[in-house]
Amino acid sequence: MTTSRMKQRGSVLIKNDKKIIHKKPIDLAPSKILAKFAEEIALNSNGAIVDVACGYGRNAACIASFGVPVLCVDIDNDALEYIKSSISLSLEKPNYFNQLTTMQLDLINDPWPFEDESLGAIINVHFFHCRLIGFFLKSLKIGGYLFIETIGSHGGNYLDLPPHGFIKAQLRDAFDIRFLKEKKVGPLQSNSATVKLLAIKQKAY
Ligand SMILES: C[S@@+](CC[C@H](N)C(=O)[O-])C[C@H]1O[C@@H](n2cnc3c(N)ncnc32)[C@H](O)[C@@H]1O
Repeated sequence: MTTSRMKQRGSVLIKNDKKIIHKKPIDLAPSKILAKFAEEIALNSNGAIVDVACGYGRNAACIASFGVPVLCVDIDNDALEYIKSSISLSLEKPNYFNQLTTMQLDLINDPWPFEDESLGAIINVHFFHCRLIGFFLKSLKIGGYLFIETIGSHGGNYLDLPPHGFIKAQLRDAFDIRFLKEKKVGPLQSNSATVKLLAIKQKAY
């Protein structure tokens, strides 16, 4: 094996011959709700599928398990290298990661790289930022799928969650909301909400 290649053994990543040990094992079990919709998203998306803030690729791999490629976008190079190393491992042991490609991007500060009406599906799990919603809505093709699952409500998470009704209001004019579970969380005055949502774009945004 060349020094630039990486090996992954459970939660241990070997990068350029240096061992990186993750504090917690990397959990590759996908979001339970995403898993319910994964086959529909994979089979009906009429363009590129992008996992926005993909982490270690657990949700992208779930979609890819239905035989479609997924582009994994994240700021964290270690997470992207993990996905890439899994791709190389797939030569020895076939797995769904061989359908994944990666793009490093700062979703808060970098320009949004996708053109309007260019994507078949966007998956966004446990990293929602209000700045992103307009990009999501514009970049999807008509018929494109949007899956959003915010982080849960524990601790101070309400500070990073969207206002109650915000995502639904953004989608109202152009999307068919197929599934929505929204729950107010945090202190009474916070108005923050957790959201789990699947929607399909019906018309240009
Ligand atoms: C809680 S993890 C969720 C990862 C994945 N979606 C999942 O469900 O397993 C949040 C992810 O957001 C990424 N992230 C945080 N800030 C980011 C930024 N500014 N641009 C892109 N990704 C970012 C982190 O690197 C991390 O992978």
